[in-house]
Amino acid sequence: MAVDTAEKTVAASLDALREDAAGCTRCDLYRNATQTVFGEGGSNARVVFVGEQPGDKEDIEGRPFVGPAGRLFDAILEEAGIDRKKTYVTNAVKHFKFEPRGKRRIHSKPNAGEIRACRWWLDQELTQIQPDVAVALGATAARALIGKAVPVMKLRGTVAESLEGVPVFITVHPSSLLRIPDEMDRHRARELFAADMRRVKKMMRG
Ligand code: URA
Repeated sequence: MAVDTAEKTVAASLDALREDAAGCTRCDLYRNATQTVFGEGGSNARVVFVGEQPGDKEDIEGRPFVGPAGRLFDAILEEAGIDRKKTYVTNAVKHFKFEPRGKRRIHSKPNAGEIRACRWWLDQELTQIQPDVAVALGATAARALIGKAVPVMKLRGTVAESLEGVPVFITVHPSSLLRIPDEMDRHRARELFAADMRRVKKMMRG
């Protein structure tokens, strides 16, 4: 029987994309990663959050933002009144890039070629979902979405445009909050990030 609503058609397409991405060999990162970590969320999401790349925990679980940065992100989204279940969360690069150090796997930044190779998937996700706003969480996401390197600290809180014409709200990556050693500074950074998320909520129309 034919799929009878546009919503179901889009959902079917996102699932098909996820299946295709599981076998992605567009760059070499698939060789050492456990699996592709594709985006997660509904096809009717009004906001798409874009991180950098999966971390150690995400690589093992196969889901984006489920490690320490993800837990902080979830808590701040909730405070801002954004239900993560109604969002789409993904990464600019969909395989974990790391350096082995003893038994540990240390996060390694994706390079411009890896970001470009993976951009194909982000384009497909944005085209399927057509959100009101995409949120660039940090420099790698901003570079992927906008198509060029941008100074995130200078442009934080401003809205640019993705290569697809989707408004892009620029902010920092939630993991940057975890790295601030001073408690007062960390608290202040968290407040600023929460204020950014409240602005994002206002940009969501649905
Ligand atoms: N950091 C990211 O950028 N993405 C994740 O999925 C987890 C941590």
